[in-house]
Amino acid sequence: MFHAKRRTFLSIVASTGLALSLAACGGGGDTAQAGSGGDGGDGAIRVGYSQLGAESGWRTANTESVQQNLTADNGFDLTFVDAQQKQENQIKALRDFVAQDVDVIAFSPVVETGWDDVLQEIKDAGIPVVLVDRTVDTTVEDPYVTHIGSDFKAEGTKAGDWVEENAPDAKIFELQGTLGSGAQVDREEGFDGVVGSQVIGKASGNFTRAEGRTATEAALQAYPDMTMIFTHNDDMGLGAVEAIEAAGKKPGTDIQIVSVDAVRDGLQALVDKKFNYVVECNPAFGDQLAELIKKVHDGEDVPKETVVEETAFDQTITQAEVDARPY
Ligand code: AHR
Repeated sequence: MFHAKRRTFLSIVASTGLALSLAACGGGGDTAQAGSGGDGGDGAIRVGYSQLGAESGWRTANTESVQQNLTADNGFDLTFVDAQQKQENQIKALRDFVAQDVDVIAFSPVVETGWDDVLQEIKDAGIPVVLVDRTVDTTVEDPYVTHIGSDFKAEGTKAGDWVEENAPDAKIFELQGTLGSGAQVDREEGFDGVVGSQVIGKASGNFTRAEGRTATEAALQAYPDMTMIFTHNDDMGLGAVEAIEAAGKKPGTDIQIVSVDAVRDGLQALVDKKFNYVVECNPAFGDQLAELIKKVHDGEDVPKETVVEETAFDQTITQAEVDARPY
């Protein structure tokens, strides 16, 4: 059982303070908010949290939701490290958490593969893992206790269903997220499963606005007959809007845009008729995450999967709805 944690050599080292100096040295990402890293004598649950980055509006909202809920007042001692979208930074942070002998490790993996060694080390240390947002593909048996996040495949399918109904003749360029990430792999599978025959080209924009713009500039040259972009997130879609406008075309009309996330900027683009349809990816599940971590720490039963609630928006959305959007 994970809650009856084995004390290992590493954990003894951690209690001497070595782990604190390791964490303080950094070099593996930004420690945005460091907890005491101490022995949790106040009864707080010591959580090591590796966020994958700050690449998008969605990610910023997700970080806020996590930090607003894993607070000292709620009984947590949170060490939060931003990996800046680099897997090596995440692996280093996870190893630091093992050295600190935290109570629970939570992380949002930037890509699906490449975690085998570190997940085995965490398992050997007896520290329970809560996967957040994205998923892993690993040979380690029972690598995590529970996962909370979106059904990315369902999001892609929802986008595909809208296209099938509203633009069955569209010639689509697919602007993909970080290659090898759960969000990219599953959204692609869901979307292409419905309208894959309409996709004329694909490239990654790594979930950022700047790379979304660059990828779209290249796509406008390579696929001059495209009439639609399916973008795996709003930020890349907003970059695509910039590229389309710079090329003298009208986003939403000359080239339709179907997106995922529904952050305020994305929904504003819908009101402004620059986006045509947006599937929601909900980042605001910090409260549910906090409850899960408490239960995992206390050895209570938790579901293996918690899928967060999500909807979708078309151009009937009003400005008032966008203004009321919390992120
Ligand atoms: O994993 C969730 C995805 O990651 C969001 O759609 C995207 O905006 C973020 O970068």
